[in-house]
Amino acid sequence: MSFNVAVIKGDGIGPEIVVEAMKVIDKAVAKKGITMNYTQVLMGGASIDEHGVPLTDETLEICKNSDAVLMGSIGGNTTTSPWYQLPANLRPEAGLLALRKGLNLYANLRPAYLYEELKSACPLKPSIIENGFDMLIMRELTGGIYFGEHRTDVEDGIRVARDFLTYDENEIRRIAIKGFDAAMKRGKKVTSVDKANVLDSSRLWRKVVEDVAKDYPEVTFEHMLVDNCAMQIVYNPAQFDVLLTENMFGDILSDEASMVTGSLGMLSSASMSDGKFGLYEPSHGSAPDIAGQNIANPIATILSAAMMLRYSFDLDEEADAIEAAVKQVLAEGYRTVDIMSEGCTKVGTSEMGDLIAARI
Ligand code: IPM
Ligand code: MG
Repeated sequence: MSFNVAVIKGDGIGPEIVVEAMKVIDKAVAKKGITMNYTQVLMGGASIDEHGVPLTDETLEICKNSDAVLMGSIGGNTTTSPWYQLPANLRPEAGLLALRKGLNLYANLRPAYLYEELKSACPLKPSIIENGFDMLIMRELTGGIYFGEHRTDVEDGIRVARDFLTYDENEIRRIAIKGFDAAMKRGKKVTSVDKANVLDSSRLWRKVVEDVAKDYPEVTFEHMLVDNCAMQIVYNPAQFDVLLTENMFGDILSDEASMVTGSLGMLSSASMSDGKFGLYEPSHGSAPDIAGQNIANPIATILSAAMMLRYSFDLDEEADAIEAAVKQVLAEGYRTVDIMSEGCTKVGTSEMGDLIAARI
């Protein structure tokens, strides 16, 4: 058996962490004689440098024709990189958004789980995380303010910028179904996040989600305003199972949720379409300040690769093996610098990949 995987190494720490994920995948699938055919393609800053645009038609086509896409992270320093002198639609992030849209990856799954071993890296008080937490952010990924019209005009001599936030009920319904389906396989609770006290799009969100909820009588369901939710994540993260959010709220809350797991470097992410196809990337950015130093944490990308095996290829055993290997390496006290704590052994990016691969 073999699978075709398009690989976007990306910018900053992207290439370093993706190489470690590939190392770990190959080890995990080799036992059953499964092979991965990797096709490297460019997207983001690397594509701008090579082709003048962040996403070429060719990259999009190759991704479409693959079984899944594995990605590092894209983008550079937004104040110093020349990429950010370009018009907004030619910057690295525009490539990622066009790729998400072009592949119809409307469901973004971001699990935030507290490893027992990383409790000391968690910035929350021990009393708050006593019983750990395990939440899944189900973020809508191809709609909302990210994809509305963006424009800046001069009106009456002053600059005016506008970003349009639009959701139709079909977009809301399909992500809500994904959220409830996921909850059925987990803790059977959905917290739907919105700003219904201010936004029309949130009021429609509430109505449609309430309709979907009727089909899932076993799932405990609640609405929560996004500002309250941001507070609850640091006050009592254990209350959450599935957090169902629109695009931008999910972007913000997933960074928050990842930090309370100990480090941004731990949070994986899967972006899915209707079938088995998905794009797998860490939730964190390209960290250009630490690129090329072999100190970045590859675990988020390695865990994203495990999600790829599970969701796109139905290789549950292999995915379990990768997740268990990550846990074991942490239990043995190995840490990259971002999750380092007293008494642990500090390792670099490639060592962390080697250690995880060796335990599969
Ligand atoms: C993420 C990132 C992206 C987003 C950026 C790079 C466009 O922050 O995947 O969370 O905002 O979706
Ligand atoms: Mg983000």
